[in-house]
Amino acid sequence: MTIRLVLLGRQGSGKGTQGARLAVHYDIAHVSTGEMLRNAIRNDTPVGKVVKDVIGKGSLVADDLMASLVKGRLGDADARTRGYLLDGFPRTLPQAHALDEIARARPINVVIDLEVPRELVLQRLGARRAAEHRVDDSPEAVERRLALYDEQTAPLIAHYRRQGVLAVVDGVGTPDEVFARLVSAIGSATGVTARGGDGQSRR
Ligand code: AP5
Ligand code: MG
Repeated sequence: MTIRLVLLGRQGSGKGTQGARLAVHYDIAHVSTGEMLRNAIRNDTPVGKVVKDVIGKGSLVADDLMASLVKGRLGDADARTRGYLLDGFPRTLPQAHALDEIARARPINVVIDLEVPRELVLQRLGARRAAEHRVDDSPEAVERRLALYDEQTAPLIAHYRRQGVLAVVDGVGTPDEVFARLVSAIGSATGVTARGGDGQSRR
């Protein structure tokens, strides 16, 4: 089976950290919309120019632009043939509906809600602010991002529960502990444990 996975979770819950490891483990494409946008800003592309201020404030980029970026990326050969993990998309109900359409022929088979309490993500983002200097890790932008998560993204949990593809995973613990829980949840949902060097799924 090819894995097509969505990772939901608050800012700082570990989507990027775990997404990178899961992509290697299952040999699937790690599609991080935040990384795509940060690359566009770094390269000063037309998209980069449009989104620069939005990201700096901790606001959300327009749904239509995000949906077209993701549609293009999921049409690439690696995502089509090997499968993918979406990190940071969808983030609103209109984006979730756009993804239902984009993935109509090859539907998403598992959505993980990576649960980490607000107090703990604030600690993690505070630590990252000192180490990495992401423009949107300022206290004001973090407040706004977390509020937008509760308003716009949390309702997606019910959307995917209704579709029968949701798995909730506890994101508190060391990165290794969380990774082991994720692999176990993905195994239960899809039957796939890992992908070997020959590219075949292990069941
Ligand atoms: P994006 O890049 O997706 O950022 P985010 O959602 O705010 O989430 P983060 O990347 O901050 O958190 P994460 O869950 O990946 O955690 P991480 O692994 O880094 O989006 C950025 C912006 O782009 C958005 O605000 C928006 O403007 C725009 N955007 C993107 N997608 C969009 C969309 N679909 N629609 C509209 N706009 C969009 O971990 C956080 C820290 O904790 C790290 O320092 C890490 O080392 C540490 N850590 C991780 N796991 C652990 C652990 N188990 N124990 C201790 N520390 C840990
Ligand atoms: Mg991230």
